[in-house]
Amino acid sequence: MSQNTASSPQNRQLIAIWLFILAFMIWIMVGLGGYTRDSGSGLSIMHWEPIIGIWPPLSKAAWDKVFALYQTIPQYQILHPHMGLAGFKVLFWPEYIHRMWGRSMGVVLMVPLLIFWATGRIEKKLIPWLFLLFVLGGLQGAIGWFMVSSGFMKNSVAVEPWRLSLHFWGAMFLFSAVLWTALNQANPEPARHAGMRGLRRTAFVALGLLMLTMFAGNFVSGIHGIADFSIAKHVGTGQPPANWPMSGIFTNPATIIFDHQLLAVLTTIAILTVTVKALRRESPAPVRDAALLIGGLVLLQFTLGVTALVSGRYDLGVAHQMNAVLLFGSVILLLHRLRGATA
Ligand code: HEM
Repeated sequence: MSQNTASSPQNRQLIAIWLFILAFMIWIMVGLGGYTRDSGSGLSIMHWEPIIGIWPPLSKAAWDKVFALYQTIPQYQILHPHMGLAGFKVLFWPEYIHRMWGRSMGVVLMVPLLIFWATGRIEKKLIPWLFLLFVLGGLQGAIGWFMVSSGFMKNSVAVEPWRLSLHFWGAMFLFSAVLWTALNQANPEPARHAGMRGLRRTAFVALGLLMLTMFAGNFVSGIHGIADFSIAKHVGTGQPPANWPMSGIFTNPATIIFDHQLLAVLTTIAILTVTVKALRRESPAPVRDAALLIGGLVLLQFTLGVTALVSGRYDLGVAHQMNAVLLFGSVILLLHRLRGATA
């Protein structure tokens, strides 16, 4: 089949839908990962076997074996010395489901890719790019294991926050790459809106600040900062800690939480500025809608952050993390709609 057929509007829409599904699966994966972290499940599977690891323990003997392995690590000895097999199973399943969801994304990428390739429905230039994303998806699994393995070290009860951040940004790279490719398939031609260049510049600044805030958020969740909120000790209440900013950017919980909040305020202002600018300039409908979306999502994000911290509820922490990715994706959507904007 010719390249012309591959780039027909119908085939492009098909490829776009498939890639949007994949981006959605990555988003769900981020939520599963957040739940795995916050439920303390992430260290319950002590091996990484990309192919044979798809089977959970199927017999009492198999369960005893994985549980015995878990009993050798500091997290069990320090946090759960009295845990029985039933308690271990509660820890096991979230981590298992997180890993299986990762593998299923590999299948959802590779099987249709081979079919679309064989039937000539996909443009040739996309094939090596999507193969690369498949390989990088595998690498993301390896980074996940690199992160998990840091939790097995002496006296450690959780993974190292910088490795958590690396794993998170691996996911964000894949998410944005798949989303951008899907958007390109759905709308190949830049709209080149007139008078929108300034708005695009502000949106880029907002994106930069958003990424910094998200990076700072990785450290809040990495140190389980949600549990550190204290009005009496002024932790998480919005006041800078003593000696700030030289008070331990990556080590002191009060500083980590304060820095995240400060960046969050700047990001919220930047994003709302984009929304207001887009509305005041009577932007074209697709730009206006995306700008309204990011404005709404950033307000929700701020509210979720404050309520998660003050209530200490990890489910709100996971919702906050998933909404951050939705916000990130929506800023990317806005920038896609502003491609080629002129002064
Ligand atoms: C623009 C606003 C914000 C953005 C984009 C943002 C982003 C993020 C991200 C991406 C994470 C976790 C990432 C991870 O490691 O997987 C996070 C964690 C967290 N953030 Fe925010 N955040 C914002 C505002 C706030 C505010 C205002 C607060 C509180 C006053 C807050 C409190 C927290 C807490 C407590 C966590 C840890 C949650 C957990 O352990 O599950 N955030 N934030």
